Amino acid sequence: MNTRWIAARVITRVLQDGQSLTSALDNALKAVESAQDKAFVQAICYGVCRTYHRLDFILNALIDKPLKSLEVKSLILIGLYQLGHMRVKPHAAVSETVQAARKIAWAKALINAVLRGYLRKQDELEQQAEKVKTAALSHPDWLIKQLEHDWPEQAETLLFENNQPPPMALRVNLAKTSRDSYLQLLLEQNLSAKTVTFTSTGIILDKPVPIEALPGFADGWVSVQDSAAQLAAELLALQPGQRVLDVCAAPGGKTSHMLEQQPDVSELVAVDIDENRMLRVGENLRRLNLQATLVVADAAKTDDWWDGKPFDRILLDAPCSATGVIRRHPDIKLLRRDTDIASLTALQKTILTSIWPLLAPGGTLLYATCSVLKQENEGQIQDFLSAHEDAIELPITTDGWGIPCGCGRQILTGESSMDGFYYARIVKQ
Ligand SMILES: C[S@@+](CC[C@H](N)C(=O)[O-])C[C@H]1O[C@@H](n2cnc3c(N)ncnc32)[C@H](O)[C@@H]1O
Repeated sequence: MNTRWIAARVITRVLQDGQSLTSALDNALKAVESAQDKAFVQAICYGVCRTYHRLDFILNALIDKPLKSLEVKSLILIGLYQLGHMRVKPHAAVSETVQAARKIAWAKALINAVLRGYLRKQDELEQQAEKVKTAALSHPDWLIKQLEHDWPEQAETLLFENNQPPPMALRVNLAKTSRDSYLQLLLEQNLSAKTVTFTSTGIILDKPVPIEALPGFADGWVSVQDSAAQLAAELLALQPGQRVLDVCAAPGGKTSHMLEQQPDVSELVAVDIDENRMLRVGENLRRLNLQATLVVADAAKTDDWWDGKPFDRILLDAPCSATGVIRRHPDIKLLRRDTDIASLTALQKTILTSIWPLLAPGGTLLYATCSVLKQENEGQIQDFLSAHEDAIELPITTDGWGIPCGCGRQILTGESSMDGFYYARIVKQ
């Protein structure tokens, strides 16, 4: 099948059905055989999402009335992305994209006209795009405003970092090998990489590679996990014999890290509402030869799943806007609405207040999000602390990473190559 048509179908799924780019791509790539074609489809789809607001501005400048068909729109966006951002020869980009419209032959002339129109006025259109903030920064207007409001000094860098391709970060399983030995192993395979200074397990590869290329991956020597996410297990520093609750655990990145670091916990209970995502927790644990009690349930409905025995440590990796991982999931810029933030904040609050009674006195809860929005982070925790007399913040003091907030600590996307993340530690008196 034609790769550009496949890419257009993926973008249509995102724009029309609100499907995530990851799942639309996973489905679509099943039909693509060659690794080179897969990489091409992937590069175009990620690129179109990353630059969507700019491409959409240019498209609108080239047509008289809005396009009714999202398949046609997606194909034109794909054409514009190749012409403006890829090293595909312009002639080939236009003719191949028009050819890809075989199933919507009526639209071929239109696609051809728009793409040729772009080539004629490329400089002028790109200059116009530079003058309109949402196009120049390739973000929705509400998110630009929110980031400028929350992080007036850092917003410009943050918006830039959101549009960069992310690095591939690894977590070495110290139960199997040392970080230095693994780094050496990578270098022997001509995979250049560096260690992350403020974690004990982190390595960042100079260039992303397929997981099959990572030495010892199948045997659990290493996992793919952003450096900021690796701080969760370090901040919890589990001790032997502790009973641990991992709330919102799937796909299990932090579950497995906690168990790698402390295999002698009395029990680790991992809860997630999504059955399919929970299957991936099982797969990850099997690969790493680790054990946990897996519970598929709404974490807030504790009567449905809690056995009444308190936990010494709780990790709540809350569902959030994911505004800290836009560079990994650029479709967030297309799918997330400003109205989502209030409902996500309400959901986080419900889960947090429901699981608080499960923490033993003297126990610690670590609240984490991959959001950079204050409402979901320090705002959420400040409200929680004022509403719960038995909750006190255990400040995270470190020179290595993050910005200290009113409470908790914020990593902004791109800091030391990390994803945007927020952590706050709360102790029960
Ligand atoms: C940020 S992800 C968790 C990532 C995971 N902790 C890791 O490190 O791999 C958030 C998770 O929250 C789950 N979730 C959302 N609402 C939930 C609820 N009410 N109860 C339990 N899990 C929920 C989602 O299914 C999703 O897997």
